[in-house]
Amino acid sequence: MNSLTGIALLEDPKENRGTAFNQAEREEKGLVGLLPPVVETLENQVKRCLYQLSKKNNDLEQYIYLAQLADDNQTLFFAVLATDPARFLKIVYDPTVGTACLEFGHIYRKPNGMYLSMDQRGKLKEVLKNWPVGDVRVICVSTGGRILGLGDLGTNGMGIPIGKLQLYTACAAVQPDVLLPVLLDCGTDNEKLLNDPLYLGLKQKRPTTDELDAFVQEFVDAVQERFPKCCIHFEDWKGTDALRLLARYVTEISCYNDDIQGTGSVTVAGLYNAMKISKGDLKDQRVLFFGAGSAGIGIANMIASAMKLEGLSEREARERISLFDVNGLLEPSRKDLSPDQLPYAHPAQPTKDLVAAINELKPTILIGVSTVGGTFTQQVIEAMSKLNERPVIFALSNPTEHAECTAEDAYKFSKGKAIYAAGVQFDPVTIDGKTYEPSQANNFYIFPAVGMAIVATEAEHVPDEIFIAAAKATADQVTDEQLAKGILFPEQADVQKVSHVTAVKSAEKIFELGLARIDKPESVDTLVTSLEYKPIYSE
Ligand code: NAI
Repeated sequence: MNSLTGIALLEDPKENRGTAFNQAEREEKGLVGLLPPVVETLENQVKRCLYQLSKKNNDLEQYIYLAQLADDNQTLFFAVLATDPARFLKIVYDPTVGTACLEFGHIYRKPNGMYLSMDQRGKLKEVLKNWPVGDVRVICVSTGGRILGLGDLGTNGMGIPIGKLQLYTACAAVQPDVLLPVLLDCGTDNEKLLNDPLYLGLKQKRPTTDELDAFVQEFVDAVQERFPKCCIHFEDWKGTDALRLLARYVTEISCYNDDIQGTGSVTVAGLYNAMKISKGDLKDQRVLFFGAGSAGIGIANMIASAMKLEGLSEREARERISLFDVNGLLEPSRKDLSPDQLPYAHPAQPTKDLVAAINELKPTILIGVSTVGGTFTQQVIEAMSKLNERPVIFALSNPTEHAECTAEDAYKFSKGKAIYAAGVQFDPVTIDGKTYEPSQANNFYIFPAVGMAIVATEAEHVPDEIFIAAAKATADQVTDEQLAKGILFPEQADVQKVSHVTAVKSAEKIFELGLARIDKPESVDTLVTSLEYKPIYSE
């Protein structure tokens, strides 16, 4: 415990124990009279928080309550999350964090991270010195350019880095002190925010690509200098910016993009298990994407990397993957394709009809990342089911109303043949007396664990191989019994146990690839365990 005393101690979230300060501590730290007389256990404090949460009328109010709790008492906050991670992750992160971001300027209380704005150009190295922790290991950084499915939210996007890093700790027990949320404020094109008197960001339009890239370069250089062991986790950037910047930095510094690599990894985890059910190999599949934005391209690249590990060349792997976007099938006559999309534009009949594309390309796997709900119609699902004994259909767009098809439609129209996952959690579906359990491809199985592996090994770079190791580790924690029910991911309630195993496997891969900046210990498991944060009051 540090030297804080009295009210200052009670106001420090890292040191505060509130009613759990014992009598001796109260006397030693000048707390006598500043707390009610009863000395409580952490368990009792957790009970009170759960009671108070139960009195909140909606998820946003619960979010605000938990944010306040994190500001008051960090240990208690994480102890509350640990009582039911699957429940609380939906509050501190997706979907409630989306509502919180929309309201950010209105519900704002404390900064909880750093705001680096274009006004500070040329001074970022100095500004980073203002952060009180010297050994930051992961920065999660967003420009607020594309927040979840909500578009450009500018500085309101800060809710995302904050929530994402809380998940590092809640899921994979990364020490909160080594994590730093950052909002790179480059303005916003969102008129509503620009006209909102409570908006907290720069009131200017977004910069040109060249200006943005120069600002990001300055940020990257400043981070390298101030926090040399730090990994930069890019999150919720506009799709084209996300792909371009990841390509620029992935082999240069320790960084990754969860929307691209994390989403790719969790999807590959689902596909590994789908292959166990359909008794196929990933390298033999034909994949069709509906949606070719950053999620589509990210997942396509990750599947291609996974296919390469099964023996295909880069060209062979990419030939097995096609994409379809708002303008139809990606093929060489299209003039509107980005450099990231071009490798997947294979010679084919141009079409804007998804069913026609399915019938021509005969995919075994159909993945929806289009943001458009209901687009996997009865005809689409029937076309997939006619071609495949067990069609793999992932409808990953979220929130719920954006899912390309519901679990019920997938099972109903495929007559129970579909191996299905969504980006959101659908309830089990019963058809003709048989119950199907839809899976949710949730990135939280992957990025906190990979984050822990990066922290533990001080990884120099974070290439796709690490995310594929994480995918495999996650997939392999699903039991045969669960697979028999069509379940593709581990129980969400087990996320902490699952993340530990995934972190260890990912760290082992980092050592194997020679990317660790520390010597390999005898036991990687022991290394990871030794670093794990526990939400308890230390002696
Ligand atoms: P984006 O906006 O970059 O890309 C959307 C793509 O869909 C574009 O290629 C666009 O042309 C295409 N599209 C739009 N309307 C279409 C239509 N009517 N027909 C065919 N294609 C159409 O979005 P991004 O970042 O790629 O995300 C896509 C979706 O994936 C979002 O809903 C997001 O929430 C979801 N997602 C899910 C994740 C998960 O489940 N773990 C993780 C990341 C994203």
